Amino acid sequence: MSQPIIQMKSIEKHFGAVIALAGVSVDIYPGECHCLLGDNGAGKSTFIKTMSGVHKPTKGEILFEGQPMNFAVPRDAMNAGIATVHQHLAMIPLMSVSRNFFMGNEPVKKIAGIPFFDHEYANEVTMAEMRKMGINLRGPDQAVGTLSGGERQTVAIARAVHFGAKVLILDEPTSALGVRQTSNVLATIDKVRKQGIAVVFITHNVRHALAVGDRFTVLNRGSTYGTATRGDVTPEELQDLMAGGQELATLEGSLGGTV
Ligand SMILES: Nc1ncnc2c1ncn2[C@@H]1O[C@H](COP(=O)(O)OP(=O)(O)OP(=O)(O)O)[C@@H](O)[C@H]1O
Ligand SMILES: [Mg+2]
Repeated sequence: MSQPIIQMKSIEKHFGAVIALAGVSVDIYPGECHCLLGDNGAGKSTFIKTMSGVHKPTKGEILFEGQPMNFAVPRDAMNAGIATVHQHLAMIPLMSVSRNFFMGNEPVKKIAGIPFFDHEYANEVTMAEMRKMGINLRGPDQAVGTLSGGERQTVAIARAVHFGAKVLILDEPTSALGVRQTSNVLATIDKVRKQGIAVVFITHNVRHALAVGDRFTVLNRGSTYGTATRGDVTPEELQDLMAGGQELATLEGSLGGTV
């Protein structure tokens, strides 16, 4: 494998008396889909927020492209190419797809010296970037609110890729989606990974993780047993590593079926 783009070394994060991360080490490589699994409260969001400059670790070191990461504000991480797509997307439903695509990065053209939003350029780029992800929009003026949940996730992913993400962090992108929309998002993740971008995919769902993941890190109350590689781990083992795995197995035994 190539050099890791991010190295998280023995990361601890305490919130007062709460130990959200108790010494987690993970390397993230370009072109891999790295799944981060774990039950509620396991520390997944805290981990990616530490990775993207939102939280400072209480202990431990983070290297980005081999250098100590020292981002003062999350915007620094974004400028360096670490993009996070949150579950609750920052989009304005009544505004067009292309307006949302360029929100905060508006292209400008001057007419008689006065700056205007460059609709033509924005529309062209938005249509092209969405097409690359396998989605044919009715038109760039379509309101984001009329897209499906999976399509909206894809807009957010395509936008991050267009603006130069090297690491794309997805926090539960499939948790609110039906089967078909989930497969669209998983296909999008696959395309992004093949472009050499590192994808960090957070999910509760072992099947979603196994569909696209190259490597798997399971967090359990702020700790991990390490990272497993595709092919070296079965769905049952992954499920068991997640908090509740053992309890689910016991429940399954007592109910006499599959939970
Ligand atoms: N800002 C905060 N202040 C205090 N405690 C926090 C803070 N953020 C997270 N925690 C605590 O840290 C632990 C890990 O939380 P985190 O949100 O990282 O879990 P998670 O794995 O993302 O869970 P979920 O699947 O529910 O999103 C929890 O016990 C949580 O209450
Ligand atoms: Mg979370």
